[in-house]
Amino acid sequence: MKLETFYITTPIYYSSGRPHVGTAYCSIASDVMARYKKARGFEVKFLTGNDEFGQKNEEAAKERGVSTMQHLDDMAVLFQDMAKAVDVDYDIFWRTTDERHQRAVQTIFRTLHDKGDIYKGHYEGLYCTPCETFYTDGQVNDGNCPDCGRAVHKMQEEAYFFRMSKYQDALLAHIEENPDFIMPVSRKNEMINNFLKPGLDDLCVSRTSFKWGIPVDFDPDHVVYVWVDALSNYANALGFLSKNDEEYRKFWPADIHMVGKEIVRFHTLIWPAILMALGEPLPKQVFGHGWLTSEGRKVSKSFGNAIDPHMLVDRYGSDALRYFLMREFTFGNDGDFRNEALLTRINADLANDLGNLLSRTVGMIEKYFGGELVVKDVPDTEFETALKELVSAMPGKIEPLMDRMNFSETLNEIWAVIRRANKYTDETQPWVLCKDAEKSDYLALVLYNLAEVLRIISVVIAPFMPKTPAEIRKQLNIEKYDWESTKIFGLTPREIKVQKGAALFPRLDIQKELAELTAIQQSKIEQAEAAVPQKPEITIDEFSKMDLKVGEIVACEAMKKTKLLKSQVRIGTEVRQIVSGISAFYTPEQMLGKKVIVVTNLKPIKLRGEISQGMILAAADGTTLNLLTVDGEIESGATVS
Ligand code: MSP
Repeated sequence: MKLETFYITTPIYYSSGRPHVGTAYCSIASDVMARYKKARGFEVKFLTGNDEFGQKNEEAAKERGVSTMQHLDDMAVLFQDMAKAVDVDYDIFWRTTDERHQRAVQTIFRTLHDKGDIYKGHYEGLYCTPCETFYTDGQVNDGNCPDCGRAVHKMQEEAYFFRMSKYQDALLAHIEENPDFIMPVSRKNEMINNFLKPGLDDLCVSRTSFKWGIPVDFDPDHVVYVWVDALSNYANALGFLSKNDEEYRKFWPADIHMVGKEIVRFHTLIWPAILMALGEPLPKQVFGHGWLTSEGRKVSKSFGNAIDPHMLVDRYGSDALRYFLMREFTFGNDGDFRNEALLTRINADLANDLGNLLSRTVGMIEKYFGGELVVKDVPDTEFETALKELVSAMPGKIEPLMDRMNFSETLNEIWAVIRRANKYTDETQPWVLCKDAEKSDYLALVLYNLAEVLRIISVVIAPFMPKTPAEIRKQLNIEKYDWESTKIFGLTPREIKVQKGAALFPRLDIQKELAELTAIQQSKIEQAEAAVPQKPEITIDEFSKMDLKVGEIVACEAMKKTKLLKSQVRIGTEVRQIVSGISAFYTPEQMLGKKVIVVTNLKPIKLRGEISQGMILAAADGTTLNLLTVDGEIESGATVS
C-alpha cells in the first residue's frame, strides 16, 4: 500500500550563532508534528539544516579565528548535537555549502535569468569603503559607518534583480484562495495588508560586495544573495533539478514550512514567487510561530546561552523540556520562558498527574494482586461509564487540534483524561475495595481501567514525549500500540504482570532548583559579558608593521558640536595633529603635557573636516576610558615595541 506523504521543514539556521532554546523550540515543534504524522500512517520526510553563506557566517568564523569552513563544520555539529539532545529526529540535515545545493542554486538562477525573471540593474545604498559594506539610511550613525565610524557615501553596485512585482497579483490570488496557506490567520492579514496591497518591489538577488556566497555561474563577479540561496534549500535537499530527483517528485510540495514570525514574509511572498516563476507547485502551508522570549527579550545567540537546552535536558530530561515548551505557550504567539513556570509544570503535570497515575496504578496492582492482574467480566458502574466516555472522546478532539498545530490545547485534552483517571481512583477508592473480598473482581476492573488509560496515554503523548511511553509500557509490561488503538477501550491484555520502576518524573524542590538555575544562568550571562572577543592571530611581522611612538600633547582644543578633541602632538622633532573621540573623558587642559602612545603610520583621515595624522591609544571598558602613557620620564619620539 502506498502511504500518503508528509514533508515538513524547519528553517535552515544561520551558522553565525550557537543553537539555543529559541532555535530548539522551532525544531521541537516540527519534530512533534513529524512524529504525529508518522503515527497517523504518513510517510514523513523532515528537513532541517544550516544556512552557511553570507557575511554573518564569515564574520563569525573570523571572530573565532578559524577558517570559514572549519567554523561551519563546527556549527553543524553543535546544531546536530542540540537536535539529538532534545530528541529532534530529522531525516535530512542540509548544509547550503553542499555541492548539490550550490549546483541547484546556480541552475535556478540561470533558469530564471533565461526566462527574463532575473535581470541586471543597480543596487543603491550607503557604502563604507574600508568595510566593503552597504548600509541602509536607518543603519548609519550621523553619516558614519556603524562599524568603523568612518564616513559612508551613496554608491551604486551592479546587481541582479528578481521580478517580484510580476507575481504580485498571482500571489494575492493564491493567498486568498487557499485559506490555510499562511497560518495563523493574523500573519496572513499582515502579508496582505503590509506588503501585497502596497505593492511588491523587485528584489535584489546578487551582490558583488562580498564573496562568501554561491557564484552566479554566467557572471562570476556576482554571488547569489541570501534568500534565493537559502529558500531553495527546501526543494534542493530533495534533489530538485538533479538527476536524482525521485524524492522531490515524491515529497514536493512541502506540507508545512515551519518558520519564525520574522521570516514569514520571505516564505510566503519571495519563495512562492520564485516557485511560480519556475513553474513548480507552492508549499501547502507556511506556519509562522512566535518567539520564545526571556523577560520580554527574544532569546537569541547573545542571550540564548543563558537558557541552554543541554543544561535543562541534563537536569530535567528532554521529555520535560519538550512538554513544557509545547504545553505552556500557544504556538503562534510569543512565549516568555520562566524557570518557575517550567518547574511548576514538571511538578504539577508530570510528577503529580502523569507520574502519580502510573506509580499508584502499578503500586496498587503489586500491593493488592502481587503484581499479577487478571480481570473478569464485571458490570460497569457510573464511574467507569464517565471515565470511558471522556477517554473515547479524546482522539476525536485532539486530531483536528494537532492538524492545526494547536499543541497546547492538545496537551490540555490529554491531561484532562489523566486527571480524570486520577479522579476515578479517588471515586472508586481501591484502598477501601481491597478490604472486602467480594469486591476483588471490581477492584481488578478498576486497576485494569487505569492501566488501559495509561496505555492510551502512552500513544498520544509519544509525539511530544518520545522517551516516556517506553517507560510506561515497561512498568505495565505491555507492547507498543498504534494510534488507531487509542480509539478502542480495552485492548490491554486482560492478564498483565506489572513491574514497578523509578518515578517517571521525580518531584522537584522548586525553591532549590530555582536558586540553582538562577545561579547557573547568572554566571553564564556574566561569562558572556566578560568574554573578550578574540581577534585572529597575527604574526610578529604583521605586528611590526605598526609604528608606535611616544608623543607629547603640546596643544589641545575641543571641536565644537562633536565629542572630538583636536591635539597637537610632538613626536621627536615633528608636531602632528590628531583628532580623538575622547572629550567625554578628558578636557583639553587635562591633555596638555601628557606623554601618550601614538600609532604614527596610520593612513591620515579627515574627521569632521579636520585632518588626523595618527591615533592616540587608550584603554576602554565601555564605561570609562584611560589614555595609555609611559611609566617614567622618556623623550617624545621614543619607540614603543
Ligand atoms: N537562515 C535564516 C532562515 C532561512 S530559511 C530559508 C534564519 N536563520 S535564524 O537562525 O536566524 O533563525 C532560524 C529560525 O529560528 C527562525 O524561524 C527563527 O524565528 C527561529 N528562532 C530564533 N530565535 C528564536 C526564538 N527566540 N524563539 C523562537 N524561534 C526562534 O532566519
